[in-house]
Amino acid sequence: MADLSTDLAGAVLPNPLMTASGCAANGRELHRFLDVAGLGAFVTKSVMRGPRSGRGTPRMAETPSGMLNSIGLQGPGIDAFVEDDLPWLASVGARALVSIAGSDAEEFAEVARRLRDSEAFSAVVGVEVNISCPNVANRGLVFACQPDSSAAVLTLVREQLPGVPLFAKLSPDVTDLVLIAEACLAAGADGLTMVNTLLGMAIDLDRMRPHLGGVTGGLSGPAIRPVAVRAIWQVHGAMLTGRLRPAPIIGVGGVHSGRDALELVAAGASAVQVGTATFHDPTSPARVLRELETLLDERGLDLAGAVGLAHERTA
Ligand SMILES: Cc1cc2nc3c(=O)[nH]c(=O)nc-3n(C[C@H](O)[C@H](O)[C@H](O)COP(=O)(O)O)c2cc1C
Repeated sequence: MADLSTDLAGAVLPNPLMTASGCAANGRELHRFLDVAGLGAFVTKSVMRGPRSGRGTPRMAETPSGMLNSIGLQGPGIDAFVEDDLPWLASVGARALVSIAGSDAEEFAEVARRLRDSEAFSAVVGVEVNISCPNVANRGLVFACQPDSSAAVLTLVREQLPGVPLFAKLSPDVTDLVLIAEACLAAGADGLTMVNTLLGMAIDLDRMRPHLGGVTGGLSGPAIRPVAVRAIWQVHGAMLTGRLRPAPIIGVGGVHSGRDALELVAAGASAVQVGTATFHDPTSPARVLRELETLLDERGLDLAGAVGLAHERTA
């Protein structure tokens, strides 16, 4: 049997399968369908300082091979998260990769500090820093679109969480992804999660108006898998050529099967998250893991040996 364990900057996980942030709430709903402790890690919905109701409705639209969402970062805030959700994840033995967000760098730091000071912090195997959300202090621009604003967030979060594996979650909607990755790694990130949704939009032609209450939304699902493969390929490739220092990549985007997961791994991902697929098949992270294991066995590979393997075999 293939060795599926993965070392994500010191977070050693028994397998590489994770939920994607925002696609399985904070675990309880999913636990009815699959044991969240069996996942490499459970990735929580991005949590901010205070409670938030998210954006106006409608907040979802189906598109060819994907879906658009404009949920906004709805949630109960960090205090409710550490009092209720994190202890629950700890009680079932889950390894939590906690996703944090903020409207400015200081909010990220405060969320990180309150997380660090929480009683159930031992369940946290790492923190995913969702810099792919808009920066209110900067005309609503997304942090992850600029190296300096990305670095500002990672620097402050790193100060609050010394020694904790930190992953910067990047947006593919940029001109030079390697530049953003470089800024995050220089500012204290241990690894990168790629990719967040792509900005998209749908128009309701009966009413001739934008379909989503939030007008634009994030595109996810099978439509974006080639974008995720490309992003992982570019950044892992930059590590192989020495432009970037080596760091683990968590791949996410359009994974519905073991084959999809293996594609992200072959491009350079050391772990894989499943997002949109869980909405129509809540067991999909466990199924994708079983399928990935079979595919690795068929190829006589351990997970670690498959990471980035396609780079050695370019035509
Ligand atoms: C409904 C929904 C909510 C999401 N919420 C978050 C979030 O809170 N934080 C985050 O970093 N990403 C969020 N995402 C993005 C996913 O984590 C993931 O990066 C993206 O959907 C691509 O993966 P997929 O194609 O497997 O869904 C959300 C995606 C969806 C569909």
